[in-house]
Amino acid sequence: MGHEAVRQSSAEAHQIGNAAVAFEPPLLNVQGLSIRFDGAPKGVNVVDDVSFSVRKGKTLCIVGESGCGKSVTSLALMGLLPTPPARIVAGSATFDGQDLLTLSERERADLRGDRMAMIFQEPMTSLNPAFTIGDQIAEGIVRHRKVSKGEAMDRALDMLKKVRIPAPEKRLRAYPHEMSGGMRQRVMIAMALANNPELLIADEPTTALDVTIQAQILALIQRLQEETGTAMILITHDLGVVAEVADEVAVMYAGHVVESGPVEAIFEDPQHPYTIGLMGSVPSLGRRQGRLATIRGTVPPAELMPKGCRFTPRCPFSDARCANELPPLGEIRPGHLARCWYAPLEQKRGAAA
Ligand SMILES: Nc1ncnc2c1ncn2[C@@H]1O[C@H](COP(=O)(O)OP(=O)(O)O)[C@@H](O)[C@H]1O
Ligand SMILES: [Mg+2]
Repeated sequence: MGHEAVRQSSAEAHQIGNAAVAFEPPLLNVQGLSIRFDGAPKGVNVVDDVSFSVRKGKTLCIVGESGCGKSVTSLALMGLLPTPPARIVAGSATFDGQDLLTLSERERADLRGDRMAMIFQEPMTSLNPAFTIGDQIAEGIVRHRKVSKGEAMDRALDMLKKVRIPAPEKRLRAYPHEMSGGMRQRVMIAMALANNPELLIADEPTTALDVTIQAQILALIQRLQEETGTAMILITHDLGVVAEVADEVAVMYAGHVVESGPVEAIFEDPQHPYTIGLMGSVPSLGRRQGRLATIRGTVPPAELMPKGCRFTPRCPFSDARCANELPPLGEIRPGHLARCWYAPLEQKRGAAA
């Protein structure tokens, strides 16, 4: 596809996206979220001015190197971030119009595992070794629904069937340690989806698994998401996965969202030098391609974090202004945002090529 054709198809995608947004407010809307840990140098928030939204039934993929604040952001949204040492210092996060950040512990616990659920990288950390799989899934159901233990067990069995666990009746009575990593992650998915959440946050759900199992688990999540219409935030390192499942993408670097927009725009017309770096040689949308490309250098430690754009030390285009002034997350085209003084980047990219 020529450059013009690419540009046109992204523009169409933006229009479609915006039409949907105009009719319906997002299910989750995060604006200017900033989080710092006690003891961190002043002004260096691990999550800083982060904004994104998720529409009903849609998938937002969050990508970025490790340590850039993806998990801290998700935990904050789920009300699972220990405060202290963490502090939410600015911003808002509304779920179906309700401000998540000002909820009481009780209200949060009511949402969690019911309308919002999360699955983690390592399923063993969230399964209790002392209880059977069936008891653990049923407990999550009884906590939020007026059902008997027996009815909850029936639902647990249904869920084990839905996540395609072999011999589900037997597995209901099994303990976590009797299962493989892949089977445990299926159990976690069953638990997370047992109450039909409207939003599922999946934080690198396949990273700890064998490559062959990863694809199966991802296909399972996608199938269940289609069946249930659950919206999802999927945190992943795998750009092939992003191309396959994302509607929207947010790229994070060192606590900032540096670029966000419809998946077509991010792949076909990346605007932030970090996104362009991550893309490396990814050929096109929809084709499976491995992990994020390696960009020279590493994320600076907190003490050395530039005042301005945090990508400055690794950026081929940076100058003194970049180091000193933080660019806003500005709109390049409707729905496509980038935090770079030089976006749109065509000219600089052309010059570098
Ligand atoms: N309990 C904590 N105390 C201090 N710093 C923390 C704590 N937890 C996470 N961090 C820091 O927050 C940053 C973001 O971490 P995280 O959200 O886990 O990154 P990601 O999920 O993107 O890999 C990291 O630099 C990490 O060192
Ligand atoms: Mg993480």
